[in-house]
Amino acid sequence: MEVVVQKTPAEMSAAAAREVANVLNAKPNAVLGMATGSTPLGLYQELVRLHKKGELDFSHVTTFNLDEYVGLPITHPQSYHHFMHEHLFRHINIPPQNIHIPSGTTTNYRAFCEWYEQRIKQCGGIDLQILGIGTDGHVGFNEPGSSLSSRTRLKTLARQTIDDNARFFKNRDEVPIYAITMGVGTVLEAGEIVLLANGKKKAAAIAAAVEGPVTSMITASALQLHPSTRVYVDEEAASQLKMREYFDWVQEKKPGAPPA
Ligand code: GLP
Repeated sequence: MEVVVQKTPAEMSAAAAREVANVLNAKPNAVLGMATGSTPLGLYQELVRLHKKGELDFSHVTTFNLDEYVGLPITHPQSYHHFMHEHLFRHINIPPQNIHIPSGTTTNYRAFCEWYEQRIKQCGGIDLQILGIGTDGHVGFNEPGSSLSSRTRLKTLARQTIDDNARFFKNRDEVPIYAITMGVGTVLEAGEIVLLANGKKKAAAIAAAVEGPVTSMITASALQLHPSTRVYVDEEAASQLKMREYFDWVQEKKPGAPPA
């Protein structure tokens, strides 16, 4: 894992946007794995800005979102469908048929999940997966205890996740209890992974994910098994990292390193 500490969330978002731009410049028909939540908002704003400046073209890009709440219609303001359209898709030139978001209203979840997995494969796999992290260390909605080889499936949300996400709803009772999410195994098959976190609330989860043991109790720790994961954090989210000095040293020495 490469850990890049940025001074502010804005710098974190800009650095992540550069990663996406590099992937799209090298492969205009890349497949991107998308995340929701407040963390990637700055990244999406930056992608929209670059697109409007004519520097990013999404006309051949395909996307797969990580997860969706079960039971919310796609028009619900808190559905991840709504989130993605509002914050990214309606502002860029991605063809609607290239957008994939898990269905939270299908009548057959098992069949849908199998289709989603197959569709990712048909599209050639995910080139770059963007991830946030829950305060309980989850990626997607892979709550503590999720199998580290899990695939897209239904999950019951942890109470902590429901509490954390209640801020987006009128009251806690409105937060869905179930979600459909790519599995940890699905995520680990992406070519590259970018994990974003900012704020003090994420410091413990980031330290556990980056420096703790690989454990299903912190599903983000499975990213230690992935050969190409970069973690972009701001100062607050980095505040519990014991290896901080080394991570900074690596970044400082990067310009002089021989080409890998
Ligand atoms: C939800 C999403 C995750 C996201 C997490 C953190 O649980 N399923 O994909 O990473 O929230 O959200 P936020 O970025 O708002 O802290």
